[in-house]
Amino acid sequence: MEKKEIESLVRKHIESKFSDRDRKEYIVAANWKMNMSAKEIRRFIGEIKEEKIPNYLKTVIFPPYPYLPIFQEMLRYDRIIYGAQDVAKEEQGAYTGEVSAAMLADCGCSYTLVGHSERRGYYAETPGIVAKKAAAALRYHIKPVICIGETLEDRQNNRYRDVLKIQLDAVRQEIGDVLSECVIAYEPVWAIGTGVIPELVQIEETHHFIHELLVSYTGISERASKILYGGSVNEKNVKDIAAVHFVDGFLIGGASLKAGSFINILRLLNVDGR
Ligand code: 13P
Repeated sequence: MEKKEIESLVRKHIESKFSDRDRKEYIVAANWKMNMSAKEIRRFIGEIKEEKIPNYLKTVIFPPYPYLPIFQEMLRYDRIIYGAQDVAKEEQGAYTGEVSAAMLADCGCSYTLVGHSERRGYYAETPGIVAKKAAAALRYHIKPVICIGETLEDRQNNRYRDVLKIQLDAVRQEIGDVLSECVIAYEPVWAIGTGVIPELVQIEETHHFIHELLVSYTGISERASKILYGGSVNEKNVKDIAAVHFVDGFLIGGASLKAGSFINILRLLNVDGR
């Protein structure tokens, strides 16, 4: 097939996905990890505030903790929302270095990441800890984005479904049906920061598997379930991945650090703006 034909096919897919009047919300989230400075962030917010973003594209930014007040100041009445990259599982007290859900709520966060593979990997966060963090966030009406994903070894040994199930099971045990109110971010560890993404059929199969798990736990409808894809998403591949069934948005690392590339990604997903 010609490149042009593929392009128009992908575009048709995206348009049909967003075609009904009452479109399903799509989440485009930026995980800045341990990057950016106050100056860079002020410039970034200034630029993105100028962008006309349609209602069905929910834009969420996850900066490092110390910069949350800049968001609170600059985005107070804006549709762009923000959250933290992590949250303490405890309520309050002698936990040096931790930041509680109540503090995040104080800073105007409506979302928080939990269980990012870098937290699970470098800081030994077990599925049980991640589940407690999700519960702590929910107590303060902060929506957890529960990150799950398998390593390359798990994928190659065809164990990825077991791994994903273990990660989700722990959350379900902790919060039960409320799991249906959380966002899930599927981030294969081997796709994070590597420039490699799974085959589109692998993404579809895995998102479908996660969706079915959520259905079996909570009876959630396809319309209500929110499963984001993360791992080497950029301006070149975002449209193709957006067309994949059961992909309800993105969690973007590297390509979200420059306002220009993040805004371009939003434009590529904006079917009204073309
Ligand atoms: P990259 O987009 O840089 O691969 O990072 C993905 C990620 O970890 C988002 O949480």
